[in-house]
Amino acid sequence: MNILILGSGGREHALAHQIAKSPLCTKLFVAPGNGGTNEIAVNVPLAINDFEKIADFALTTDVQLIIVGPEEPLVNGIVNYFKENEALQRIAILGPDKTGAQLEGSKAWAKSFMASEGIPTAAYREFTNKTRNEGIHYLDNCNLPIVLKADGLAAGKGVIITSDRDEAKENFNAMLDGMFGHAGNTIVIEQFLAGIEFSMFVITDGKDYILLPEAKDYKRIGEGDTGPNTGGMGAVSPVPFLDDVLAEKVHTQIIKPTLNGLQKRNIDYRGFIFFGLINVNGDPFVIEYNCRMGDPETEVVIPRIKSDLVPLFLGAANGHLPPELPEVTHETAATIMLVAQGYPGPYKKGNPITGTELVHESLVFHAGTLLNETLQTNGGRVMALTSFGMNIQDAINKSLKAAELVHFEGKNYRKDIGKDLLIFEK
Ligand code: AMP
Ligand code: GLY
Repeated sequence: MNILILGSGGREHALAHQIAKSPLCTKLFVAPGNGGTNEIAVNVPLAINDFEKIADFALTTDVQLIIVGPEEPLVNGIVNYFKENEALQRIAILGPDKTGAQLEGSKAWAKSFMASEGIPTAAYREFTNKTRNEGIHYLDNCNLPIVLKADGLAAGKGVIITSDRDEAKENFNAMLDGMFGHAGNTIVIEQFLAGIEFSMFVITDGKDYILLPEAKDYKRIGEGDTGPNTGGMGAVSPVPFLDDVLAEKVHTQIIKPTLNGLQKRNIDYRGFIFFGLINVNGDPFVIEYNCRMGDPETEVVIPRIKSDLVPLFLGAANGHLPPELPEVTHETAATIMLVAQGYPGPYKKGNPITGTELVHESLVFHAGTLLNETLQTNGGRVMALTSFGMNIQDAINKSLKAAELVHFEGKNYRKDIGKDLLIFEK
């Protein structure tokens, strides 16, 4: 069958890399794709939110399965667009509809969903322009540090954590005044949770779910988790502190109640649920839900899956997960993200990239790259270098070696990915 992946990051390259190997895949398209997907699939210059053009393309090229990488088209209703049109209904599309995507698209919706299902998460209050004064009063009295979250999608920038009340109030007002556009019309203020973060992923057909390998990502730009948040600077899978007891708590207290809650609301959720979790003294809490796979988590999670992804993805999209569980390697996967100088602030594009052909021990997943006769940088996160090892150190060493082999002006990366996890490894 012909398959279309929407997106252009390392996540989409990692998905394409695996799907291109499937005997079930005839032609693979990635829209818009990047310099890496170009080599294993056909890049199609379509904007991810232009549903009409995506639909036209899918019909004319006989695409039978669409995998939606990023959250934006899901939150904007791409699945509804396909389901509501008779000609498009026969195309399987993997991802939740607009209502299901609110798990990520509206923090206030997700918080109230968790509250009503009794799912452990930080205590919270929500405010709008109408309740601005109450919000300020609340900020004067709540515990420190303060966690402020813009309700809607804000390109990963919508969370502000501060121990300075005045700074919290300034940001609260700025959010209500449009700092993140409509995303800040509603603000969630929540209790700060102290613990260690990790992420779990499931794929669901709306009824059952299959657990995918877990991961830990590294969000801050600087070593030792310092500096501003990024989309993610690296990731490791498996997570050594996730033992059977903690995993069982996540299943019974979080994953199952989430799926029950969706079913109760008649939300036919077919796709990925990404549980952003925090381990607080052995108890898991939800920090956030995402309605898609993570990036760079996908670059370690997906390569660990050795079985064909196409029956799994197609089954979920069609409402019938296959009975077999995917085969997962016990080896550790680690990825290091090479980023452009200045990222997550302003950065330059168009710098030549060399040396990827020298990397033999790692998988090279392109993110912000463009192949325009030569390979050049085209984004803040440029590429993810994924390696396997018998343990974290072993995998990371290979990715560090690969990171030295690839060159572009202003290359930056964290050398401490996975270091905090070494104490948990047996
Ligand atoms: P989010 O965009 O919701 O993932 O938030 C970004 C980051 O902020 C998370 O990865 C956490 O590190 C941090 N964070 C969010 N909510 C909380 C919370 N309630 N307590 C502590 N840290 C949080
Ligand atoms: N790496 C975090 C995310 O994909 O949301």
